[in-house]
Order: sequence, then structure tokens, then C-alpha cells
Amino acid sequence: MRKIFLSCVLAVMAVSAYAKVTIVPYPQQVVENEGSYKLAGVSLRSVGAIDERTQALVERFAAELSQATGKSSKVIKGKAGKGINFIYDQTMAEEAYVLNVGTKSIDIKASSLRGFNWAVQSLKQMMPVEIYAGKAVEDVEWTVGCCQITDAPRFGYRGLLIDEARHFFGMETIKDVLDVMEIHKLNKLHWHITDDQGWRIEIKKYPLLTQVGSIRKETLVGHLRRSTVYDGTPYGEGMWYTQDQIREIVEYAATKGIDIIPEIDLPGHMQAALTAYPYLGCTGGPYEVWTKWGVSKDVLCIGKETTMEFILDVLSEVCDLFPSKFIHIGGDECPKVKWAECPHCQQKILELGIKADEKHSAEHFLQSYVTARAEQYLATRGRRLIGWDEILEGELAPDATVMSWRGTKGGEAAVKLGHDVIMTPYQYLYLDYYQSKEQDKEPLAIGGYVPVEKCYSFEPFTDEMTPEQKEHILGVQANLWTEYIGDQDYLEYMLLPRLSALSEVQWCAPENKIWERYLDSVDEVINIYETAGYNPAKHVLAVQKAK
Ligand code: ACM
Ligand code: ZN
Repeated sequence: MRKIFLSCVLAVMAVSAYAKVTIVPYPQQVVENEGSYKLAGVSLRSVGAIDERTQALVERFAAELSQATGKSSKVIKGKAGKGINFIYDQTMAEEAYVLNVGTKSIDIKASSLRGFNWAVQSLKQMMPVEIYAGKAVEDVEWTVGCCQITDAPRFGYRGLLIDEARHFFGMETIKDVLDVMEIHKLNKLHWHITDDQGWRIEIKKYPLLTQVGSIRKETLVGHLRRSTVYDGTPYGEGMWYTQDQIREIVEYAATKGIDIIPEIDLPGHMQAALTAYPYLGCTGGPYEVWTKWGVSKDVLCIGKETTMEFILDVLSEVCDLFPSKFIHIGGDECPKVKWAECPHCQQKILELGIKADEKHSAEHFLQSYVTARAEQYLATRGRRLIGWDEILEGELAPDATVMSWRGTKGGEAAVKLGHDVIMTPYQYLYLDYYQSKEQDKEPLAIGGYVPVEKCYSFEPFTDEMTPEQKEHILGVQANLWTEYIGDQDYLEYMLLPRLSALSEVQWCAPENKIWERYLDSVDEVINIYETAGYNPAKHVLAVQKAK
């Protein structure tokens, strides 16, 4: 009884302390003031050295406001005044912003597109939810409560992976994903666009990658562990991105301050490419684009220089398409059995003088060799390599950034070696895992159990890390693999609301990451998703609130 009373008191305190500002991710500092600001028909002013992209952001926001309120909001360049002022302030850190809502004007200060956009996103979350409807809505009081917000992210890398190799969703879905990432201030879309089951990016020098490698003749029905039934239906015809489409997506993301990090997964997860160009494999094939899930033993043959040429040619076109500093080369789940039997690979091991040590086979070091060559090439293009934590096996390439997915141990090991790390442990951040315990009531998923509170609870720093090592944790990412996710509705269902929980792990300082406050805000977040036309999993929160 006392416990119930206490939790009621705490709940009331939490509600009253955070009654108005329910922004997710919650800002660093919020002061709520009396009064409100009327939004309909206000001018937007860009003040100082506002760059072109930021100017476009201001125009976009003005158009959204005009549409929603039904009264035209104009954009004016020049001095601050009545209206919403976008004030360039070079003293602000890259993604930081200050947002002051007064009764006569709103002042936003930042030094970059990102800072300004994150301020706009905070402002939108404080406005009537109809701002997300994308159309005029009558009978809405277009006001926003007065407040002062000072904000900046905890981590510079705030990522989400979408897998379009296993299932393809297309331009509109990816734009919708970018839109919802923007709401929660994520700034990196890790785009997994090649794998055993489909190659989905046009490479001009190797046209068969998409012509042949995008299509599998059929797909496993049901779960890999329980089914041997296939649907008999080809999948993937036309399901790939032309280079023009890629450029369009990259540009769309850039307008929001989101970088797209492409992943060309190698030397494993390459069966679609092997099908298109069998000479790339150790045996020469024939191969077929994989029709089931899991880890294929057929991988790129590293013994042949023609394979290295292929890799560097592909990376060259990838660098032309993606301005991102980071390029992801995969490196995960690469079985070594074919290399152990391959005369070319064994000859290469001899030539390189590679020797097994007590921890790793010679073939592990062969993978390190290919990673290092990819890294050297990317460096000539001014880029940095990211790989999954398997790239730690053997010898880690000198400047590689490690994406720690098999827990946090890989990340801990990499920071000890002075390498940068992105944490994405599957136990907390694999969004293809079930989000409810009642799995028989859920759509088929890969397995596991990552409820929203598990996602929320992730802390990337561990006790063993020194302050210098913590500096190497660039940030956090969640991964949405799509073996079992075939359409956009289901994709959104797995993504939302866990994406919002992720955003607090990425953005909030530990003292601001408060589960109870988040839980109080999340109804508003669900409201945003639904108003914007997304399909969130709502019942997972009902379960949380009932606890
Ligand atoms: C992975 O989940 N294989 C990175
Ligand atoms: Zn080989």
C-alpha cells in the first residue's frame, strides 16, 4: 500500500514537473515560462550568416506552418524582429541550439543547419500535433507555450540501420524513415544495400550486380529455424536504386542534416554479387542469389587480385555517390571454410607471409588484409572505414571505426586500442527482435526480446573505460534488419516507438534520461506518429504503463 501511495506521488510529481514540454529526446535544459506565442501568419526571419541549406530549411518550415495554420508565413532575410528569428551564432557548437519562445517572438540561435533543424524539431514537438498532419487543420489553437531551451547532443553519431537487401522498400519509404529520424534528431542513416539475398545499388562498371544480383528466384516462408518451405515467387525485379535515385535520397537526407552511410558488406554476405560475377568466388560457382536467411559459406575470394579490383571499383563509385565521411564495409559473419580450401587464397596467404597465431587462423588475417586494403583506398578518397566488430579478429586496420554489435565487448576492446567505436549491441538495439513477450500475437520476427524499456536502458559507457577511452565512443545506433519484414507498415511497427527510446540514449545526458518522464511523454510521441501517418506499436507502451 505504501509503495502504491509513493509511486502515485512520484507519478504526480513527474507529470506536474514535465506537464508542458514533452520533447523526445528531452533537451538538456528547459525553463517553462508563463504565456504563449501565436503562430498563425508569423514571419520567419533569417539573421546573419545563414547558409543556403539553412535558408531552405527556414523556407520549408514556413511552408509547413502556412499549410497547417491556413495563414501565410513569409520568410524575410535581415534583422531580428517580431516573428520566428533564425539567428546565426558562431559561438554555438555544431549541433547545439538555443530556443527562446516569448510572447512576441521566438529566437533560435545555432551555428549550423543541424542546430537550426533540431531547434525546429523541438519547436514542432511543442506545437499542436496537427503540425504533423501535412495539411490545413481547422479549429486548432496555433500557439506554443513560452519557454527557454538550451540543448546539445550527448553523442555526435546518432544512427539507425535500415536493411534493404533482404527486403526492398523504395524511395518513399526511405524518405518517410528520414522524416521520422529527423523528428528525434538522429543524424546518420546506415543503409545496408547489399547482401546474400539481393544487391540493390547500381554500380555502372558491374551492371549484372543489379540486373542479376537483385533477384532471388524465391524466398523462404516462415522462420529459418522451423521452415523448409519456399514461396516459388521471384523477388527483386526492379528492386534496386539507380545512381540518380541514390543522389536524390542523399540530397533529401542532407536537407535535414542526416548523413547516409552506405554499407557494402564484404568479404562475406556477397552471394548476390557472386551470382552476378561467379569469378569473384573461390570455386567459380555457379551460385544463386540466396533464397533463405543466415550466413552463407560462399564469400569473396581474396586470393585473386581481380576481386580486389572489384572491391575498389565498387567503393570508388560508392564514394562518388555518398559524400559521407564514413563508408561501411561490413566485415561481419565471414566464414573462412572456402578460403581454407582455395588454392588462390592459400597462395595469397603464403605471398603475404601471413601466419596464424594462438587466437586467430591465417584466414582471419586474410580478412584483415582485405579490410586494410579497403581502408587504404578509402583514405585516398578522404574517407574513413567502419566495420562490424569482427574486423577486430586478426589485425585491426589502423584507422578503422568499429561498430560493436555482438554486445559491447568488441567496442570496449577497440577503444582500448585507441579506435573509435559505435555501439549497437543486439541485446539492446536490434529492432528486428520481438518487442513483446506475447510472441504468438506478434508478426513473425527473427527472435529475441528487445522491449522499449530495454532499448531505453542502454548505456554505452562501461565502468572499465577510462575518460580517454570514452572519448572514442562516437555514438549509438539501432539496427533494423529485414529478413522477416516485408512491407512498410511492419517496418514502422518495429521501428516505432523504439526509435524514440533510442533517441534519448543518443541525445540525453545520463541525468536527463529518465524512464518515467519518457514514459509520460511517449503518448504525445505516438500521437505525432499517427498524425503523420506512421504505424507505431502502441500496445508495448500500454504494457509498460500498467506495470
Ligand atoms: C550483424 O548483425 N550481422 C552485424
Ligand atoms: Zn579463394
